[in-house]
Amino acid sequence: MTTIEYVLGDITEQEVDVIVNAANSSLLGGGGVDGAIHRKGGPEILAECRELRAGHYGGGLKTGQAVATTAGRLRARWVVHTVGPVYSPTEDRSALLAACHRNSLRVAADLGAHTIAFPAISTGIYRWPVEHAAEIAHEATKDAPLDLIRFVLFDQTVYDAYARP
Ligand code: AR6
Repeated sequence: MTTIEYVLGDITEQEVDVIVNAANSSLLGGGGVDGAIHRKGGPEILAECRELRAGHYGGGLKTGQAVATTAGRLRARWVVHTVGPVYSPTEDRSALLAACHRNSLRVAADLGAHTIAFPAISTGIYRWPVEHAAEIAHEATKDAPLDLIRFVLFDQTVYDAYARP
């Protein structure tokens, strides 16, 4: 049985095995959650991201994929970086948003993680409508092979959309 929790707060404060980062394909940092994770986690995370770019991910991380680094100074063991799709009003990219969640869970399970925290991927700079993103996130994280999934939502509107029964 997986416990699902909803927390209004900052994902960088979470004490879980894995924190999911709403990254971009460069893996080299950005704003929003990504900026916060790198600021608080310290340079070790970025150094590992650069190594990934110098190796297997020379072309960047594709939308929907996920990859892990350690978590630097964060109170987590790993950061799983995933790239959400930019919202498009003319093209249905829901499968890619679902893939971000599923692939993050798979990478976490492969690492041996039991607990994971997700932000509301794609609902910030990538402009995904929050209610729809919440639906996709719920569907994609059902039956996860982990003990705890915690959605960490940064403001009340996003919290309300995700935590709604
Ligand atoms: N803890 C939890 N949630 C947060 C935090 C935080 N510290 N900070 C912001 N949020 P975004 P995206 C919320 O923009 O839409 C970056 O530049 C925020 O309110 O971080 O997937 C990347 O490098 C929103 O609800 O991610 C990419 O270029 C949610 O997290 C791009 O942004 C996601 O907002 C990715 O855009």
